[in-house]
Amino acid sequence: MEDSDKHSGLEMTPQQMRQLASKAADILIDRIGSMDGAKAWDGEFREILAREFDGPPPENGRVAEEVLEQVARDVLPYGAQLDHPRFFGFVPSSPTWPGILADFLASGFNINTCSWLVSSGTSHLELVVIDWLRSWIGYPESAGGLMTSGGSAASVEAIVAAREAAGHPAQPVVYMSNQSHSALIRAALIAGVRREHIRLIETDDRFRMDMNALRQQVSEDQAHGLHVVAVCANAGTTSTGSIDPLVALADYCKNEGIWLHVDAAYGGFALLTADGKEKLEGINRADSIGVDAHKWFFQPFEAGALIVKNGQHLNDAFAIRHDALQDTIWGANHPNFSDRGLQLSRSPRALKIWMSVQIFGIAPFRVAIQRGLDLANRAATYVESSPALELITPVSLGIVCFRVNDGNHDEQSLEEINRKVLAHVFWDELAFVSSTTLKGKFSLRMCILNHTTTWNDVQRTIDLVIRIGSKALDPT
Ligand SMILES: Cc1ncc(COP(=O)(O)O)c(C=O)c1O
Repeated sequence: MEDSDKHSGLEMTPQQMRQLASKAADILIDRIGSMDGAKAWDGEFREILAREFDGPPPENGRVAEEVLEQVARDVLPYGAQLDHPRFFGFVPSSPTWPGILADFLASGFNINTCSWLVSSGTSHLELVVIDWLRSWIGYPESAGGLMTSGGSAASVEAIVAAREAAGHPAQPVVYMSNQSHSALIRAALIAGVRREHIRLIETDDRFRMDMNALRQQVSEDQAHGLHVVAVCANAGTTSTGSIDPLVALADYCKNEGIWLHVDAAYGGFALLTADGKEKLEGINRADSIGVDAHKWFFQPFEAGALIVKNGQHLNDAFAIRHDALQDTIWGANHPNFSDRGLQLSRSPRALKIWMSVQIFGIAPFRVAIQRGLDLANRAATYVESSPALELITPVSLGIVCFRVNDGNHDEQSLEEINRKVLAHVFWDELAFVSSTTLKGKFSLRMCILNHTTTWNDVQRTIDLVIRIGSKALDPT
């Protein structure tokens, strides 16, 4: 037998595959089952990890079960447990089992949703999911979009589409509020906007873009010969969940002929509730909207999406023919998703959303999103009822910003006290809370959107802050 007729050694028997897959499933199911009693965060210093992992790759393989156990014991637990019921830092993510399985199946079938020819099935599901998003937003049939790795990629694609629609001007300017996510600034830079032409517009006392400041900056820039490419609004800022004045922005951008993009990566799925729909009124008048299903739609990373009101804009910006891909043109109504964005090879991200919704139905998603909103409102009331705490800004979309403050300390001491409190909460290991800075004030911040979080989780966490905070306020 020729060497080339033999197996390379990269295959496994069906029995080995089944055993390993079943072990991996057991590890995950046990983790989910024991989450409530586990830490919300763990981490390790590099030198400790280096002792175990550094070195050249082994020439010969090890026992597969041992590798799996090592990863489950010594690698994966070291980090934020973003799906822990008391993980309230940054933006948590709490995927459901169908979404996790969808990613497993997608890897196993080795799907590349680049073109209809290469993946008709998952391309079609992407159309279906994009159409769901379209209808939740209230966009017309002409809207189109694609799944992305997340809000960052959606922002890049939106600003590139806006730039192309504006005729790819030489001196582009992009506007966003001073509360916008750094992902939007990075997106504008990638799209070729000079750093000094990315305008961070002032916000009001509730962290919403100041329309007068926007109008004034746009007129000044136009007077200087700069070319307005887009205004980027927030539908749920990461710091406070604040929502920019979407109706006023839509009116203004329509009058001025400016592309309005809405970064709804954090808050977009609130549209599935009556409460959220009311708060996000006007979002459907934007030219493009980015949302993240790995945030408030309970999917594993990566599950972002960009929806553009006139879907053709994406093809105009991104479709480029290549001779080696000429066979992939299936014809009318059979889109190649790689023509709509920055990736050619793409995992089938719509699959997890589609499978989750088929298995659970959409009703429990609405309930879970509403629960996050309700818990955050209840948490704010609880904060306000404590003489040791101050609610820094009214709750907008599931985020509670507060600090330890009994009214007897100046701003500098309050910052020191709250930094200390945050560190102690962190060491306590009951829960994970993060911080932000709001108009110069150091603020504790809880983002409550995990579908497994209960009032008890929220209350225990705030009680812990009160306990630690009371000591920090009066250390005697
Ligand atoms: C409002 C907002 N925009 C954009 C992003 C970036 O999204 P991603 O991390 O999915 O790229 C985030 C992430 O938290 C966000 O909260």
